[in-house]
Amino acid sequence: MSALVCGCADKNDDSVKMITEATFPPYEFLRGQEIVGIDVEICRAVAQKLGKDFRSETVDFDSVIPAVISGKADLAAAGITVTEDRKKNVDFSIPYVKTGIVVIYRKDNPFKDKDQLKGRKIGVQSGTTSEMFVTDELKQEPERAKSPAEAVAALKAGRVEFVIADIDPAKNCVKGEETLAISDFITSEEYAVAIRKGQPELLKAINETIAEIKADGRLAKWVKEFTEESDKLKEK
Ligand code: ARG
Repeated sequence: MSALVCGCADKNDDSVKMITEATFPPYEFLRGQEIVGIDVEICRAVAQKLGKDFRSETVDFDSVIPAVISGKADLAAAGITVTEDRKKNVDFSIPYVKTGIVVIYRKDNPFKDKDQLKGRKIGVQSGTTSEMFVTDELKQEPERAKSPAEAVAALKAGRVEFVIADIDPAKNCVKGEETLAISDFITSEEYAVAIRKGQPELLKAINETIAEIKADGRLAKWVKEFTEESDKLKEK
């Protein structure tokens, strides 16, 4: 079954429904109308293990975790960082990547250290750990955007001074942009698949799938392929 942008979940069907936010290359992005990326392949592999059809839907990032809590979707996979707060509301699989967030800056206004961010206008994607970094660590309000790319557009236009985002979409955003650069990691994070609490069998199937795709090289292959594809899309 193909993954259409509006492959809206039908309560009575027996497929595995993935919920994501598809502006986050290479983990999830749109190839025309189709949602593709590393997270999509991970969830498709889970569906395969369960012997079920697979479908996916993209919503705002703030709505991704609520969708599995309410049962609208089975698997939330959107480069979701495991956090103590989120663990109160959902169960997480074993992690499938170690990563973190970085600062995107204009080369004519170089970023040096975290102290420099205090009191500055900082763009983030709404609902993310980048937003939490600004509200919880810097104790200020960020400029919230719908996607990392929208935040970076504000940076280019001079409406924000810095953007904070996960490293991989950040790299994609600065690809081909002569005026922009990214910092080293300012946090250390891990991505995992989130599901509604109290589903030990589903959790086991996801964990087994992640262990398998790590061991047999599929995960590494998807990382390479989808990074290349999303970089190419950026060049267009
Ligand atoms: N890793 C960050 C978080 O969990 C950002 C994830 C954003 N993902 C997305 N598909 N837009 O908050």
